[in-house]
Order: sequence, then structure tokens, then C-alpha cells
Amino acid sequence: MNIILLGPPGAGKGTQAARLEANRGMVQLSTGDMLRRAVAEGTPTGLKAKAVMEAGGLVSDDIVSALIGERLDAIGDKGAIFDGYPRTRAQAEALDQLLADRGRKLDDVIELGVDEDALVERITGRFSCASCGAPYHDQYKLPKVEGTCDVCGGTEFKRRPDDNEQTVRTRLAEYRAKTAPILPYYRDVGLVRRVDGMAKVDDVAAAIDAILDDSS
Ligand code: AP5
Ligand code: ZN
Repeated sequence: MNIILLGPPGAGKGTQAARLEANRGMVQLSTGDMLRRAVAEGTPTGLKAKAVMEAGGLVSDDIVSALIGERLDAIGDKGAIFDGYPRTRAQAEALDQLLADRGRKLDDVIELGVDEDALVERITGRFSCASCGAPYHDQYKLPKVEGTCDVCGGTEFKRRPDDNEQTVRTRLAEYRAKTAPILPYYRDVGLVRRVDGMAKVDDVAAAIDAILDDSS
């Protein structure tokens, strides 16, 4: 089974993808994570992507589609959760081709419906463990012991450079202008299922599980 999690920055794509990975043996393919790794490692892709990401713009379609193709080749017959990809019509068309070339098909496009005003607060408050990546939030999820990661005991935390308010607003504008318009592409083929992304994390997860159970 292959699915897309579609929604604006902060909608909860990464949160839900991690749960699906843990509970269903699927693999999260997050172009944002791939690009951040490339930036950290200073690869040619990372060097091209760094400034664009920090400004909240979109990296070129060719770069991200190539990253997805490489990862699809590496996951064998496991199901894919596309997180943050596709983000443009050209990427949606590229994904169709990447899947067809590998004998795969798309089962569901899950749209996380959210209230934009809440997203800025969600994103600007988030941080994560520098060692294991466990996610936290200034308001919703602080470590149980102050300054110590619940998962690995690490004491260093980090924030994404693109999680400041101004960049978040640019990312939201990019979503509205370039990504939301791909919804009709998938609606036309009957793949879109909308869930309430403003519900509690567990309730969003339950709604997604119900959709996947229904399609498998
Ligand atoms: P990317 O990494 O994809 O970032 P994004 O789409 O902006 O999404 P986020 O990771 O910010 O949010 P999310 O929906 O995963 O939410 P999360 O679960 O973390 O992309 C970054 C950049 O890379 C782009 O700007 C672009 O430059 C580039 N890029 C990436 N892919 C690209 C592509 N395909 N093409 C071109 N460029 C690309 O949740 C957010 C917060 O809310 C967390 O604190 C979480 O704990 C909390 N939360 C989650 N769910 C809930 C809930 N139900 N209730 C309360 N809080 C919740
Ligand atoms: Zn940790």
C-alpha cells in the first residue's frame, strides 16, 4: 500500500507518518527530512537546497523527484508513506511515473484539514532531541524531566532554521499557491480522503487507520 499525506506545514504529516511506520511496517519518505540530511552532510543537493529551504521556498521538482526515486528503490516491497511530496503538479506527475515504473500504485491521498492560524503556533513551538529526533513542543509536549529527552536521555535539543514565524508564513503561502492546487488532480481519480487534522493526535491516527483498513 502506498499513500500520500497531504497538508500544509505543521498539519501533522511527520507525526502521523512516524506512527504509521511504527504500527504498519510502512516506510516514511519525507523529502523535507531527505533535504535536511543533504544540507547537514553538505552534498551537492544540500548546497543547492539550503538557502531555498531557509527562505521557505520550494526546492526544484527534479531534485526532490530524484530523491524519491532513489528511496523507492531502497525500500523493497514495503508500503510507502509520501510525506511532503508531491508538492507541485509536476511532482504529482513525476510520482505517477516513478510508481508505474516500479509496478506500484497509489492507494490513498489523505488530506489533513487544518486551521492555518493554529499552524504558526504549532510550528514555532516545536523542537526535537538532537540525538534521537524525538519531537517536543513548548506548549503541548515538554520532556517529562526538564532538559532531558524522554526517549534517549539526551540533553541537547534543536529547532529547525525554517520554523520562525516569517518563514512559516512564506511556507504556508507556497502551500496555498503550489501544493493545494494538486488536490483536484487526485480528486479526479477518486483518491482523496480528508481527515480533521485539528483533532487530537490519537484521533487523527484513528481516522487514518480507518481509511487504510477500508482500502486494504
Ligand atoms: P518539510 O520538512 O516537508 O516541512 P513542512 O511541509 O513545512 O511540514 P512540517 O514538517 O513543518 O510539518 P508536518 O506536517 O510534518 O507537521 P508535524 O507532524 O511536524 O519541508 C521543509 C522544506 O523542505 C520546504 O519548505 C521546502 O523548502 C523543502 N521541501 C520539502 N519537500 C519538498 C518538495 N517535495 N518539493 C520542494 N521542496 C521541498 O507537526 C507540527 C507540530 O505540531 C509538531 O510540534 C507536532 O507535535 C504538533 N502536532 C502534530 N499533530 C498535532 C495534533 N493533531 N494536535 C496538536 N499538535 C500536533
Ligand atoms: Zn532523544
